[in-house]
Amino acid sequence: MDIRQNMIQLSTTIVPLYLQKCNKLQFFPSGIFFSEGLAFCIFAEIFNIDMIIESGIRSGVSTNILLSFFGNRISLHSNDINTFPETSNTVKHLRSHENWKFHVGDGMKVIPDILADPIYRDRKIAILIDGPKYADALELSKKCFNFNNVKFVAMHDMNTVNCPQEHPVIRDLQSWKNYLFNTDVKWFRDLASDIDDKLASKSPHWKRFKMKYPYGCGLAFVVNPLDLRWRYITGNIIR
Ligand SMILES: C[S@@+](CC[C@H](N)C(=O)[O-])C[C@H]1O[C@@H](n2cnc3c(N)ncnc32)[C@H](O)[C@@H]1O
Repeated sequence: MDIRQNMIQLSTTIVPLYLQKCNKLQFFPSGIFFSEGLAFCIFAEIFNIDMIIESGIRSGVSTNILLSFFGNRISLHSNDINTFPETSNTVKHLRSHENWKFHVGDGMKVIPDILADPIYRDRKIAILIDGPKYADALELSKKCFNFNNVKFVAMHDMNTVNCPQEHPVIRDLQSWKNYLFNTDVKWFRDLASDIDDKLASKSPHWKRFKMKYPYGCGLAFVVNPLDLRWRYITGNIIR
C-alpha cells in the first residue's frame, strides 16, 4: 500500500474523530490549516508516534490541534523564539496540560537539545516545523534526522502550487529522496479541504486565508533517511 492509499484508508476512521475532537478549536491568522493538522495526525498514527516536538506556535492553532486530537497518548513539546502576546496567552491557557511543555528559544538549537536528552531516547518522535522557515527549516530537519528515533519531520509553508518560483528551497526539498508528501497535492485537497470549512468557517479570518491559499499553505513531509523501515511502513513515494 502506498502513502496515498494508506492515508485515504486511515482517514475513514480518523476524520470523524478529528472533527469531533477539534470541533471547538479556533482558526487564527498564520495558523496551520485544519486539513494540514489532519495530515500530521494521520502520519503520527502511521508511525505510532508517542512524542511530538513543534517549533513555532504563535497563536497555537497547531498546538491545540495536537493536544485535542491525541490527548494524553502523546507528550508534546512546543517551542517559540518569540513571546508575542498571543503566544503568552496560548501558553497560559495550555499550561495545565501535564503532557505539554513550552520551551522558549531558537528552534535551531532548542529542538536538537531536546532530542539529545537521553530521557527521550526510546520515544518515537515526530517534528512539526512552522518557524524557522524555508532553508532554515530544511537545515533543522537534517539536524533532527541525526536522531534515529525521529520518524518524520513536517515543514509548513512549503506550498508547491502557488509559489514554487518564489522559494527555490521548495524545489530543493522536492528532490530529496526522503520527501514523501505535501498536503497541497490534488488528491489530498479532494480528501480533506472540506475539513477546513467545517472547522474554520466560524473564524472571522477564515475566508481571507481560504482565498489566499486555495490549496493550503503546504505541509511537506520528509521521513528519516536513517530508518530504512519507512519504505515498508509507507510504501512508495507519491509525488
Ligand atoms: C506561522 S507562526 C506558527 C503558527 C502555529 N504553528 C499555528 O499553527 O498557529 C510562526 C512562529 O514561528 C516562530 N519562529 C520563527 N523562527 C523561529 C525559530 N528559529 N525558532 C522558534 N520559533 C520560531 C515565530 O515567533 C512565530 O510565532
